[in-house]
Amino acid sequence: MSGGSVAALIPAAGSGTRLGRGPKAFVEVAGMSLLARSVARLAPHVGEVVVALPDGMSLPSGITARSIPGGATRQDSVRRLLEATDAEVVLVHDAARPFLPARVVWEVTAAAREVGAATAVLPVADTLVRAGEDGGWGQYVPREGLWAVQTPQGFRRETLIHAHARAAAEGFAATDDAGIIARLGGRVALVPGDARLFKVTTPGDLALAQAVAAVWDAGVWDAGDDDA
Ligand code: CTP
Ligand code: MG
Repeated sequence: MSGGSVAALIPAAGSGTRLGRGPKAFVEVAGMSLLARSVARLAPHVGEVVVALPDGMSLPSGITARSIPGGATRQDSVRRLLEATDAEVVLVHDAARPFLPARVVWEVTAAAREVGAATAVLPVADTLVRAGEDGGWGQYVPREGLWAVQTPQGFRRETLIHAHARAAAEGFAATDDAGIIARLGGRVALVPGDARLFKVTTPGDLALAQAVAAVWDAGVWDAGDDDA
């Protein structure tokens, strides 16, 4: 890959409260953990993979990465990951999104190089409504121009370090990194994501992930956009 080194940074230090199966990155889908799946999808495309793990936990064997202790929040974990590499470009990807097409990795990396920051996004398909004061139907929210934000998100590392420092100093909390850039007026490119990049958050998502894995692991899905 030309234009400077790339590192994949994987926040995997969460406790998985909503899933209720212990630290989520270690939960297995069809015999392979969410973390192992995410690392395997990124490793072929980057110079190194660094993972933030829950304090006191270590990487299971068979996962080719370096690990560091994560922080109390996702934002803290990413801040620590940024200090653990000197790559020029970083791809931040949630361990909890195990089905990552190669096409998305390529496009987010290219856009991050060009623009400085980029994220995978998915068009919102459902009709949107804001609830009224009684909790019932209030008002339509036009969905034109609205996108659901996924990972991976790519950045020039120095840019993201600076934005994280500002966010920490100003007490700004976010569940993603592109938003931390955008609040400072930085440009963030939007790259087409993929429905299979959903985040495994609830027990229902885990059931969906089992179903997706059955097809994904067979290697017959979207062979055209995939290399790895
Ligand atoms: N994460 C992290 N460090 C934290 C919290 C979260 O590295 N202190 C990571 C998670 O491991 C996950 C990603 O950030 O890969 C997205 O977070 P989320 O889906 O919220 O995972 P959890 O925080 O583990 O789940 P929950 O919020 O249900 O406890
Ligand atoms: Mg969380």
